[in-house]
Order: sequence, then C-alpha cells, then structure tokens
Amino acid sequence: MEVINQSVIPKKKLYTGEEIPCVGMGTFGSDRFTPDQVSAAVAGAIRCGYRLFDCAACYQNEDQIGEVFKAAFNEGVVERNELFIMTKVWNNMHERVEESCLKSIRDLQCEYVDMFFIHWPFPNYHAPGCDADSRNPESKPFSVQEFVNTYRQCEALHEKGLIRNIGISNMTIPKLESVLPLLKIKPAACEMELHPCFQQQELYDYLTAHDIQPVGFMPIGSPTRPERDMMPEDVADIQLPKMQAIAKAHGVHPAVIALKWAIGRGQIPIPFSVKEAEYVSNLKCTTEDPLTEEEMKTIAALERNNRLVKGQVFLWEHAKDWHDLWDEDGVIVN
Ligand SMILES: NC(=O)c1ccc[n+]([C@@H]2O[C@H](COP(=O)([O-])OP(=O)(O)OC[C@H]3O[C@@H](n4cnc5c(N)ncnc54)[C@H](OP(=O)(O)O)[C@@H]3O)[C@@H](O)[C@H]2O)c1
Repeated sequence: MEVINQSVIPKKKLYTGEEIPCVGMGTFGSDRFTPDQVSAAVAGAIRCGYRLFDCAACYQNEDQIGEVFKAAFNEGVVERNELFIMTKVWNNMHERVEESCLKSIRDLQCEYVDMFFIHWPFPNYHAPGCDADSRNPESKPFSVQEFVNTYRQCEALHEKGLIRNIGISNMTIPKLESVLPLLKIKPAACEMELHPCFQQQELYDYLTAHDIQPVGFMPIGSPTRPERDMMPEDVADIQLPKMQAIAKAHGVHPAVIALKWAIGRGQIPIPFSVKEAEYVSNLKCTTEDPLTEEEMKTIAALERNNRLVKGQVFLWEHAKDWHDLWDEDGVIVN
C-alpha cells in the first residue's frame, strides 16, 4: 500500500489553535457496507496516512472501528494524540449526552474525542431503515431552548476533558443566529453537506466569518447513498461533463476533482470509501496537482442547489415538507 508522508498533507487550524488534517475519512456504511468492511478500510486508511476520522454513534460501527484504533495504537502505527477522532451524539440522546459520549469513547477506545458534534439540531428520531415518508408523532420543530440544553451538556464534557472541541451539524443561519450568542464555548466546526452541486455558499461564508470550520459531508455527491435518499431530480456531480473534462485533464477520477475543489475552497471533505485504491487517492490528491483558478471557477458555477440529505424522516406532524427543516426564507420554521 502506498503510504503518504504526513509532512506533505496540508493541515488547517481551528480557532482554538488546534491543527486538523485537510481531509478525513467518512465511516457511514449505510445499508451498503458492513461494519467489518468499514473498519477494515479505517485500518488501511491509518496505514496509508489518514489521521482524521468522522464517526458517529448512529453509524453502528464504532465498536469495530475502536478495535482497529486499539490495534493501531498497540502495534505502534500511530499514537492516540496523532489521530483526530470525531463522533456525534444521535437525536435520541440529546438529554443524555454524557452517556452517549462515554459509550462512543468506550467503543472507539479513544480516551477522549477531538470533535464532538450534535448530529442534528433537534431530537427527532426515526427508526433505522424506516420508510422515508413516515413521520414520528413525537417529532418537534427546532427549539432554541432544547438545543442550548443539549449544547450545555457538550460544554460540560469539554470542561471534563472528555471532548476537545464541540461541533454542530446540519445547521442553518437562522438557527445559528439564535443560538450562538447563548453558547459559552463557540463551536469549532460545522459539518454540512457540501459538493459541487450543493455549495451552500451563504452558510459557508457565515461560518468562515465566525471562524467556524466547515466540514463537508458527501463531498463526492454520495453515489452509494441509501436508496431512500435518491430522488429522480438529483444530479450526479461526478457525471457532469465539466467534472469529467477536468478529471481527464488531470488524469484522475472525477471524485478526486470534487475533493481537490473542496480543499481548494477551504472546507474539510470527509470522503467515504472501502476500496483501497480510492481512499489512497482521496488522501494523496491533497498533496499534488491542485486545480487551476479557472477550474475552481468552472466548478463554482456547477451549483444546482441539489441537497441530497433532505432530512424528511425528521419532520414533525404539521410540517409541510422537507424544506421546513432548512429555514430557506431566513427564519426558523416551527
Ligand atoms: N453529519 C451528517 O449528517 C452526515 C450525513 C451524511 C454523511 N456524513 C459523513 O460524510 C461521509 C461521506 O459521505 P458519503 O459516504 O455519503 O458520500 P461520499 O463520500 O460523497 O461518496 C462515497 C462514495 O464515493 C465513491 N468514491 C469515493 N472515493 C472515490 C474515488 N477516489 N474514485 C471513485 N469513486 C469514489 C465510492 O463509491 P463506489 O463504491 O461507487 O466507488 C463511495 O462509496 C460519511 O461516510 C459520513 O462520515 C455525515
């Protein structure tokens, strides 16, 4: 396996001064990849040079990934403080954040978490694998008070040294405007969907203006996402002729071009793959042959407002449709 030298992998700085690699590996196997496949990819990824991993309690594979981390520590492949491990509290644990965090730490065998995200800004829960149109009668619209209550528990974990940074995910500007003034510790990162056909420029600019690092999920446009998240109107980023032409010019797969664009723009992409050749090239591409200014502009113009994770399973009973989750008119929908 090709090993990428750590010294050539670009890093970014969080507002706290801490360093974070410019690319990480996603670990959401969804319905398609088993925990064993995902954890085997994590094992290979550590060896080829990945240091940033995006985990989550709801991915249901943290214990297998933890075995891989432990083996890597025991075998002296990496030390704990060389890894940047991110995980997330799931929606059904918003009132028991410490319990969720301790379970993730135990499962991941990582002693502490480098970035602990609130996965979604509301406690709405859906059974795994449930029908995309089903609504849980207990689901509620966003509440500032409930969010801050969950965030306070993260702040307490930070004070205890169990987590080093707090992250938010799937947020909107109106929600951020309403909660940021109430938080004692500013979030260090926001995980959000980002790929050429869904660039969220306004939210991206808002975050960078507040020194909150955008972390881009589905950076390749998630060609292997679950069926329930595939809509006929979705655009496949890596099949766009302009992406393919740029890929041809660089002699790489269009997936790699999506990552080079992400890194050139400034977000931290967290691509997923269980295939060695893919995850090696996803790391290696950060170290060589960046896109030209012209190519960056061409990709910026591919924006189609094509949100893939619409979140319809989190809708409350009287909500209209999934647009209600994203405050598109600039006010919190409730
Ligand atoms: N915070 C949140 O709410 C949230 C939501 C969604 C995802 N995430 C995180 O974001 C991560 C990434 O998202 P994702 O897995 O949905 O989508 P993605 O990274 O955009 O796409 C992954 C797929 O792209 C293909 N691929 C990867 N590298 C490639 C390469 N070099 N060449 C060709 N094809 C390549 C692979 O498909 P093939 O098998 O076809 O090659 C792979 O399964 C997740 O694993 C998870 O950690 C977070």
